Amino acid sequence: MSSNNPIGVFDSGIGGVSVLRAIRELLPKENLIYFGDNANLPYGEKTLDEIRGFSEHVTDFLLEKKCKVIVIACNTASAAALKNLREIHPQIIFVGMEPAIKPAAEQTKSGVVGVIATTATFQGELFASVVERFAQNVKVLNQPCPGLVQQIEAGELDSPKTEMMLRSWLEPMIEKGIDTLVLACTHYPFVMPLIKKILGEKVRVIDPAPAVAKQVKRVLEEKKILNNNERQDSAAVEYYTSGVAAAFAKTLFVLTGETSEIRSIKD
Ligand code: DGL
Repeated sequence: MSSNNPIGVFDSGIGGVSVLRAIRELLPKENLIYFGDNANLPYGEKTLDEIRGFSEHVTDFLLEKKCKVIVIACNTASAAALKNLREIHPQIIFVGMEPAIKPAAEQTKSGVVGVIATTATFQGELFASVVERFAQNVKVLNQPCPGLVQQIEAGELDSPKTEMMLRSWLEPMIEKGIDTLVLACTHYPFVMPLIKKILGEKVRVIDPAPAVAKQVKRVLEEKKILNNNERQDSAAVEYYTSGVAAAFAKTLFVLTGETSEIRSIKD
């Protein structure tokens, strides 16, 4: 695999762009291919088996594009499919999302940590194993947020409805004494300002995207496949969606201010 090959990044929709952004900041020379599986969104309300099927399909697409590493920029797909994808493609490097329970458990002073994620993420073995390994001495409050992914996809980052939904999930956790909140869904960093407004100054919010970008860098270094193209300062990013290109483009613009060509892949 050549070091100039792209890094593949996928999610059920636009959420993984929060991870893509962190990778671009840390590794500006890397070419990237992003795939949003919008035709099957939301993953978080599907069965683990269905999510595994979608993830295999997207992985095949990224492998056809000759990606040197595949980043599963979706907690739900990582929970449902990471293990399975590594078994099917033992020669491919996958970097997945792991709920940031470890840093949260290390940093909490109140001993109570909140986690927000999709319903499916809480059902996967990955979540249980991370809690068992890293959160023995802290209390972890799990809060699924059904419908929040769709609000973010609709660009409703600070609408009254989004605020009402978030308040209904976060206020009870504040009452139970959380001082740290883990964002265990890659869509949620896009409502960070609203989350911070509700939580106030006293609760720390952990977005794992920078840590995942560092992990991508580590594996590229280890395998000696960092892009070393001297002539290239800023690399190419290609966006694909299994949904409607115009809708993806609009959400991308609302969330990031970026205007890019979006290609739709419809089977
Ligand atoms: N961004 C995905 C995650 O990290 C959202 C899953 C969904 O589509 O529900 O979990």
